[in-house]
Amino acid sequence: MKVLVTGATGFIGRHVAARLIAAGHEVLIGARDGRRAGRVFPDQRFIACDFTRDLSSAAWSPRLLGVEALVNCVGVLQPRRRATMEAVHLTATAALFDACAAVGVRRVIQVSALGVDSGIDLHYATSKLAADAHLQGLDLDWTILRPSLVYTPAGSYGGTSLLRAQAALPFFVPLPGRGDQLFQPVFMDDLTEGIRRLLEGGKAISEIVPVTGPAPLAVRDILFGLRRWLGLGRAWALPIPMPAMRFLARLGDLLGGGPLTTTSLRMIEQGNAAPPDPFTRATGIVPRRFDQVLAQHPAHVQDRWHARLYFLRPVLQTVLALFWIVSASVMLFGQRVFIARELSGSDPAAPGAAFDPWQVVFGLALLSGLLLLLRWKVRLVLALQAWVLAIALLWWAASLLGVMAVVGWQLVWPNLMLFLGFALIFLANLAAWALGDDR
Ligand SMILES: NC(=O)c1ccc[n+]([C@@H]2O[C@H](COP(=O)([O-])OP(=O)(O)OC[C@H]3O[C@@H](n4cnc5c(N)ncnc54)[C@H](OP(=O)(O)O)[C@@H]3O)[C@@H](O)[C@H]2O)c1
Repeated sequence: MKVLVTGATGFIGRHVAARLIAAGHEVLIGARDGRRAGRVFPDQRFIACDFTRDLSSAAWSPRLLGVEALVNCVGVLQPRRRATMEAVHLTATAALFDACAAVGVRRVIQVSALGVDSGIDLHYATSKLAADAHLQGLDLDWTILRPSLVYTPAGSYGGTSLLRAQAALPFFVPLPGRGDQLFQPVFMDDLTEGIRRLLEGGKAISEIVPVTGPAPLAVRDILFGLRRWLGLGRAWALPIPMPAMRFLARLGDLLGGGPLTTTSLRMIEQGNAAPPDPFTRATGIVPRRFDQVLAQHPAHVQDRWHARLYFLRPVLQTVLALFWIVSASVMLFGQRVFIARELSGSDPAAPGAAFDPWQVVFGLALLSGLLLLLRWKVRLVLALQAWVLAIALLWWAASLLGVMAVVGWQLVWPNLMLFLGFALIFLANLAAWALGDDR
């Protein structure tokens, strides 16, 4: 079957696409970022989909030619602009469903979320609910899946990464409030196998199906279960009062991009549980228990690295950026004479002083620090720093050659030390760059 999976570079979408590919289907990778799509699925066809721009049925129809089924896994938890949520969850999604109806893509599976129909006044929920309602009104073989928290030992993203990181902290595991909010986490493989069966089943199931694990679990038990799975020692539970959690969530909103936001906290506070029977009836799958799944899939060193570095990553990135900015600024603006005399061997007071490559080196260092702080064009930062290194090396080599002819050893050592210093920081930045990879 030729299936378009939208949101195929996301946490759920990539597992869905992988499951369908393994089952022999021709999967089209619907994603907004072609480079990321190529990295995740190098052998599949990529279809560009931007849910903030593809807002009409006419925009979607040409991309659906020959497609037999759609699985939509696109979603945003807390975009910076409310309009983005409306476009992504409702306008573009409804337009995509309309296009399916128009061109004859009859089978549509929508990955929605448990609790969107609870009456909670969150735009995340109401916009998803409206898209679900739109789909129900179309003459299609639709199924709306509403999962609780989805987890897998094979990777994490967003909320599940945050849970792993909380579980991996030394000595204390912080809990939202008393950690007694109930969730019914469902194993990714159960969800993706369910989607496969629904697609292949042949019979239309026009139903809204909650997708949950076998029994509710308190957030506290999920966190300590993950800690046990990661193989870390005992720790105390540290209840964080809900007002403090709300403050942290507001901070998360302001900083953007992280999994702790007012929306996610409201969803946690509300809890998220429902009986698994409808999913079993629809797919024949009996969902597996959380502890059983973890026991059958031991954690790897990569899981521990990621969990332990999760909170350190932004600290490391910020400290490195500040290091570049401060040291380059001091050298550029406070130590001009030192640079000229001690590194370049020139007289700063001389009229028409010669071009000084160290000024360029520190200028580039300052620029790269600023870009690093803004987390903007990090590849460009590395390229700039490579230039810094190259110039520093060249200048050192030049001073070395000069020494033999005229100047003396005093320029060789400071230049060498500077070069080695830059080389070390460059390596640290390479590590920070690798840690910056989110998906
Ligand atoms: N994970 C859970 O536990 C869970 C539980 C219940 C319901 N859900 C729902 O399941 C869906 C998928 O969740 P997830 O955990 O896989 O989230 P995710 O990892 O954040 O994936 C969301 C996907 O949507 C894509 N997307 C976001 N904005 C887009 C835009 N403007 N245009 C095109 N694509 C866009 C993302 O693209 P990029 O890859 O380019 O960022 C990503 O592929 C969401 O609707 C979520 O609400 C998730």
